[in-house]
This record gives sequence, C-alpha cells and structure tokens, in this order.
Amino acid sequence: MERRRVAVLLGGRSGEHEVSIVSARSVMAALDRERWEVVPIGITTRGEWLTPGETATALDAGARAFDGPAHPFLMSGEALEALASCDVAFPLVHGTYGEDGRLQGLLEMADIPYAGAGVAASAIGMDKALMKALFREAGIPVADYAVVRAWEVRDDADAARTYIEETIGYPCFVKPANGGSSVGITHVRSREDLGQAWAAAFAYDDKAVVETAIQGQEVECSVLGNEYPEVSIAGEIVPDRDFYDYDSKYSGASTTQLNIPAAIAPEVAERVRELALRMYQAMGCEGYARVDFFVANGTEVIANEVNTIPGFTSISMYPKLWEASGLPYRDLLTRILELAFERHERRVRP
Ligand SMILES: Nc1ncnc2c1ncn2[C@@H]1O[C@H](COP(=O)(O)OP(=O)(O)O)[C@@H](O)[C@H]1O
Ligand SMILES: [Mg+2]
Repeated sequence: MERRRVAVLLGGRSGEHEVSIVSARSVMAALDRERWEVVPIGITTRGEWLTPGETATALDAGARAFDGPAHPFLMSGEALEALASCDVAFPLVHGTYGEDGRLQGLLEMADIPYAGAGVAASAIGMDKALMKALFREAGIPVADYAVVRAWEVRDDADAARTYIEETIGYPCFVKPANGGSSVGITHVRSREDLGQAWAAAFAYDDKAVVETAIQGQEVECSVLGNEYPEVSIAGEIVPDRDFYDYDSKYSGASTTQLNIPAAIAPEVAERVRELALRMYQAMGCEGYARVDFFVANGTEVIANEVNTIPGFTSISMYPKLWEASGLPYRDLLTRILELAFERHERRVRP
C-alpha cells in the first residue's frame, strides 16, 4: 500500500500549547506507519511555523513547548512547503488559533484535506455562548445561562451583578466564552466571589458565559463520522476536587478518574448517546468530536459542550471510549484521516 503523507500540526498560540504537544506525541507514536508517513510541523507560542526538521529536533530534545526561532507565519516558507508536500493534515492544536476555525480556514484556503470539524463548526465549538444558543435552538437541554461583556462590568458592575442575580443566581459558573482546559473558570457560590470570577474570565475573553451550577455526574461520548456519524459508549469523569479544573485535568498529582462505562442507567446512557449525535449534527461537525454532558439526579441529561479537538493521548477520554467500543487507537486515527479525504472529495465542486 502506498504511504500517504500526514502533516501533524502541534503546539500553537493558545494556553493549551503544551497539552497539544502531549496529544500530538501520542498520535504520532500510534499512527500506522505502513499507511502514513508523519510530517510534524510545530507552531510556536508566537505563531511561527517550524520546519519538520526543527520540530523533530525539538521533540527529540524533550520539548514541552516550541519557542523559537523567530520567523512570522507568512515567512515560514519552508514549513509551508512541507505542508504543501502532504496529502492530509491532522491539526492537533487545541484552543484559539487551532481549534476555533482559524487554522481550518487556512487549510481550506490551501486546499489540503484535514482531520476534524470544518470552519463553522470549529468556530461555534470554541464559543460557549454561540454553542449554547445553537443547542437551545435545536431543542437540546442546556443549563440556564447568561452572556456578559467585559465592558458591561467595567461600566456598571452593580447592574451586571443584579442582572446575574435576577437571571441565574448562585451557585453559578463564570467562564470565558472562548476558552478550554477550564482556564478562567470559577465556581461562584455567592456575591463575594463574583468580582474575582469576572477578572478570571475576562483575562481570556471579553465575553463571559454565566451558567447555573449543575450538581451531578460529568458524562462524555465520542462521536466519529461525516454524514453518518457513530457514537461510542458513554464514559464518566470523576474529578478529585470541587470541579474538573485545569489541575485535575493535567497535573500529575491529580487523582481524577475516568470511568468507562459511565455509572448511569442504560436508558440514561442511551439518551446521552442520542443527544450527542444531535449536538454533533446541529453544529455541523465532521470527522470527530467529544461531546460532554451533566447528568443530574442520575436521570436528567443536560448538554455541556462539544470539543472539536479533544485531548488525544492514548489515555484521554476520546480514544479510550472508542477503544472500549471496539475501535483501537491506531485504527481510530486511520479512520479520522480517511474521513478527512472523504469530506474533501465531497466538497470539491467543478
Ligand atoms: N454549569 C456547570 N455546572 C457544574 N459544573 C460545571 C458547569 N460548567 C462547568 N462546570 C465544571 O467546569 C469544567 C469545565 O467547564 P467547561 O464548560 O467544560 O469548559 P472547558 O471548555 O474549559 O472544558 C466542567 O468539566 C465541570 O467540571
Ligand atoms: Mg469541558
């Protein structure tokens, strides 16, 4: 079989730069080398693209982050030529400039097939306010929420607080609309926490989403496919602290558990899986995505979010759910790349 060249894009400008490198390392180690020739392209925290040689050297030296050399994106000619020599791209850049449609738009411009969601679905998935509005419109249950802008709090913090207290109340969660890995998120229990919560959220975005706090289990599904997506069994996150924050996601000291399958009744798991497909299709996702829920009182299923570039190490929820559903990591990666070609071929119009 002829090997095809896959550009693995990793690093990037968001706060999830290091996480991306961890995901990409395990994807590159697992890709079926009989079918795929791997071309790693690192993106620095400033947005410069490294050549495959520079990237490999940095990875071999144990890099957790790419920080040089300095040439701006449009001057990254050699890296772009390497991309042009590839048959397909696998963007594994989490967060802004990677997961939010910008990188996907660039790959569309370049006419290179790529793994995962397209421009619009990526952009919606990155913006929790847009995503929730879309789910509500599609009749999918979401927590009550309100959207607050930084300037509203700056101009009249009392009015913004009153608005939140009259619409959402406490306890609530305050989040940057554009974020990920739980950065900038605060569990607000009372009025006293609100000032610090605004500051934390507005450090990342000038739009915040405030949501009713849901007490319950956190349940996730993996979805895979273009026009006829399939859904995995449901898994459960059991955080080792108040909520699933940055440290409980990534710290070596975290004792957060992934339970596969989720400890929920079969009919609740079916409801989760059905909603996961509806959310994926409402957003227009393609390729793959992880879909996250809350389950309150063991019965009520509430949508949380869709992640279009979820954590992708071999011990991450996305691939583990497929593994438990009978699809091994290596075959999952091949399937995701095949879906990229399939979508690209369908899009090409004379
Ligand atoms: N409305 C909510 N009720 C209860 N917990 C929440 C709520 N929103 C967020 N959380 C907690 O915060 C975590 C991160 O929030 P999430 O919206 O998933 O943002 P991110 O995109 O950063 O993962 C969730 O996994 C959950 O533990
Ligand atoms: Mg989340």
